[in-house]
Amino acid sequence: MRMSGKVALITGGGSGIGEASCQRLAQEGATVIVTDINLDSAERVADAINNEGGQACPKYHDVTKEKAWVALIDEVIDQFAGLDVLVNNAAIAPTGSVEDTSLDDWRSVQQVNVEGVFMGTREAVKAMKEKGGSIINISSDLGIIGEPTMAAYSTSKGAIRVFTKAAALHCAREGYAIRVNSVHPGFIDTPAVTSTVAEMSEDMAKAFRERILAGIPMGRMGRPLDVANGILFLSSDESSYMTGSELVIDGGFIA
Ligand SMILES: NC(=O)c1ccc[n+]([C@@H]2O[C@H](COP(=O)([O-])OP(=O)(O)OC[C@H]3O[C@@H](n4cnc5c(N)ncnc54)[C@H](O)[C@@H]3O)[C@@H](O)[C@H]2O)c1
Repeated sequence: MRMSGKVALITGGGSGIGEASCQRLAQEGATVIVTDINLDSAERVADAINNEGGQACPKYHDVTKEKAWVALIDEVIDQFAGLDVLVNNAAIAPTGSVEDTSLDDWRSVQQVNVEGVFMGTREAVKAMKEKGGSIINISSDLGIIGEPTMAAYSTSKGAIRVFTKAAALHCAREGYAIRVNSVHPGFIDTPAVTSTVAEMSEDMAKAFRERILAGIPMGRMGRPLDVANGILFLSSDESSYMTGSELVIDGGFIA
């Protein structure tokens, strides 16, 4: 029960890595607020946790809406008397090289992936600064290295990596007991990867998969649970001396 008595909010909790993280934190005793733009999926995840004896509450939330962030954090503080952990996990991952990305597509990726993480971190810092907490921003291997077929996405994940350090240093300098860290998954078998590959032509998808598997020293894609365990570690007091750091979980891909 490494998360006993803690309240954790996970965005994009209705699928993939977010879903596994909700389950893992709940198994360790956290009360989990499962938020997603897809309320049905958030409810499905929360129901499964509650049915297994855990504590979860689903909420509709679009991470791109500023007023919705303020309202959500207020609601959580009222309902659960505090917030200990925020996992900024929600993201979109469309494909597109530098040549074939429109400005509208570029902006929509930055809106969800970067502005969402910024607003979530800002509101959580305000909520956590008296008692402390842990903020975990989900970046990617592609926030450290570039991916030619995902220009806007790679950019957004690089922004999250450096924003996390700026926020972590601010909290440390102000004397807040808030830690802010980023997580960098490699290729994890989730619905996002399946739908990204589905958007590609057959040849492109085959080459993409072959290139990925050839580049993973451990020889397999990751599981959502592999990443959820890292998120659990950063959420818990076991990582109490970590802030501004980047946890790479990728089977050795970028090593
Ligand atoms: N799967 C991978 O291989 C991989 C690799 C590196 C990084 N990541 C990162 O891990 C995180 C989770 O990825 P995943 O593969 O589990 O994705 P996923 O698509 O399975 O889940 C993402 C969830 O976010 C929700 N979402 C999308 N837009 C939203 C919005 N505006 N507001 C609220 N919720 C929204 C979706 O409804 C979905 O439930 C993302 O940040 C992703 O970039 C994933």
